[in-house]
Amino acid sequence: MAHSPDPSVDPSSDPSVGELIAARPMLARHAMDGLLIEGVPLAAIAAALGTPTWVYGAGTIRARYRALAAALDAAGLPAHIHFAVKANDRLAILRLLGAEGAGADVVSLGEIARARAAGIAPAHIVFSGVGKTPAELRAALAAGIAQINVESAEELDMLGAIAAGMGRVAKVALRVNPDIDAGTHAKISTGRARDKFGIPYAQAAALYARAAGLAGIEPVGLAVHIGSQIRDLAPFRAAYGRIAALVRALRAAGQTVRVVDAGGGLGIPYRNEPVPSPEGLAGALAGAFGELDVRVMIEPGRWLVGPAGLLLASVVLVKRDGDARFVVLDAAMNDLVRPAMYESWHGIIPVGAADLVAQASPADIVGPVCESGDTFARDRALAPVAPGALVAILDAGAYGVVMSSAYNARPHAAEVLVGGAAGNAPWSVIRPREALEAQWRDETIPDWLG
Ligand code: LLP
Repeated sequence: MAHSPDPSVDPSSDPSVGELIAARPMLARHAMDGLLIEGVPLAAIAAALGTPTWVYGAGTIRARYRALAAALDAAGLPAHIHFAVKANDRLAILRLLGAEGAGADVVSLGEIARARAAGIAPAHIVFSGVGKTPAELRAALAAGIAQINVESAEELDMLGAIAAGMGRVAKVALRVNPDIDAGTHAKISTGRARDKFGIPYAQAAALYARAAGLAGIEPVGLAVHIGSQIRDLAPFRAAYGRIAALVRALRAAGQTVRVVDAGGGLGIPYRNEPVPSPEGLAGALAGAFGELDVRVMIEPGRWLVGPAGLLLASVVLVKRDGDARFVVLDAAMNDLVRPAMYESWHGIIPVGAADLVAQASPADIVGPVCESGDTFARDRALAPVAPGALVAILDAGAYGVVMSSAYNARPHAAEVLVGGAAGNAPWSVIRPREALEAQWRDETIPDWLG
C-alpha cells in the first residue's frame, strides 16, 4: 500500500488472476473444483458454511514462520519472534504460531488473555502500546509478562510506582522514536517525530539512566517500530542504525543494554509489487546489531499471516448502469475494512472453475453497506460473475477479522483453518458464524421503557 490515494496505481497494470495465483503458493486452480487453498476447494467450504467466511491456511502460516526464523538463523541471529497478536488474534492461529516457537507481542489485557488461552507462556509475551492503563500494567506484572515496552517518561514513572508497590521489578525496554519516515500509508506510519509513538530520540539516553535508578524498573534494552507494510529496506536500516548508535552511547555511559526489540513492519506484495525478503530484513538486523552482543527480537504481524488468509464471499447481484458494472458482494467493510480505511488494494479473484478462466472486464466490487466507502475495488478486471458466484479477497489474513465490526447489524463471519493431520478433515471451523441474536445477547432494555 502506498500513500493514499496512489495515482500511480493504474488498473491496466494490475496483476492478472493467473499472476495472482502463481505468486501465492497456497492457491491453485483446479479444472473442475476451481480455486483451491492448500489443496482444499473453496467452493466446498462455502457449501458447508456459507459466506462471508474467512479462510486461513495453516501450512502457509507455518511455512512463513519457518522461512523467517531460518533467515534470522542464517544471518547469525537466533530467532526471537514475537507475533504481533493485533494482526490476527484467533486462538487457533496463536496456538499454531506458539507451537512453532513464536512468542507474542500484545497491546492490551485482551491480547494477553488470548495469547495465554492459546498456550503462550507469559515468559514469551512482550507488552507494547502507547496507552497501557494502570490496571493493565498491574495485571501484566502479576502475570509475569516477560517485557514491557515503555513509550514515554510518564508511563515509566507510572510503571515504576506500580511495580514498586507490588514488590516487583518490571523488565523494561524503552521504545524510541527514531524520527524515520517509513514511506508507508500515513495512518500506519509510527516512527516520525510527530507520530504519537515512542520516546523522542534525543531524550532516550537520559530516560534510560533515570529508569535504571527506579526501584520497580530494570531497563533491559531498546525497542523500535517505525510502521507497517514497509516495502523498502532503507527505512529499516536507518532506524536500526540509530538504535545501534544509542546502544553504544548507553553502554559508553555505563548502562547495561541486553535487548533490542526491532518491531514489525515488513510488507507483503498485495499487488505483486516488490517487497523486501526475510533474508533482506535479517541482513539489515545483522548489519546493525550483529556485533553488539544483544538479544535481537522482532514483532512481525502482517508478514506472517497476511498472505495466509482470504475472505470468501458470494456475489449477491450485479448492477449495471450504462457501461458501469457494480458487483455487489455479501462481504462488506464491516468484515474487511482495509480498502475503506486505507484505500488498500487486495486481489479479488473468482473461485468457480469457469470464472477463473473467463475473459475479465472492469467492475466496481462493493459491499452492501450504506456507504460509498464500502468498496473493495474500483475498475477492477473481473470475470462476468453471476449472482451466487464465489470470489476470494486475497491477503486478508492480517488486520482482517480483527478489525471487523458488526456495523449494519451484520454478524461476524465464520472462520476456517485449513490443515489438520493427514486422514482428518482437511479443514476446521475455528469460529462459527455469529448467530444474529448473539449480537444483542448482552443488551438490556430498561424496565422504565415498558
Ligand atoms: N509492533 C508494534 C509496536 C506495532 O504497533 C505493530 C503494528 C507491529 C509490531 C506489527 O506490525 P506489522 O508487522 O504487522 O506491520 N491496521 C493496519 C496496520 C496497523 C499496524 C499497527 N501496528 C493495516 O491494516 O494495514
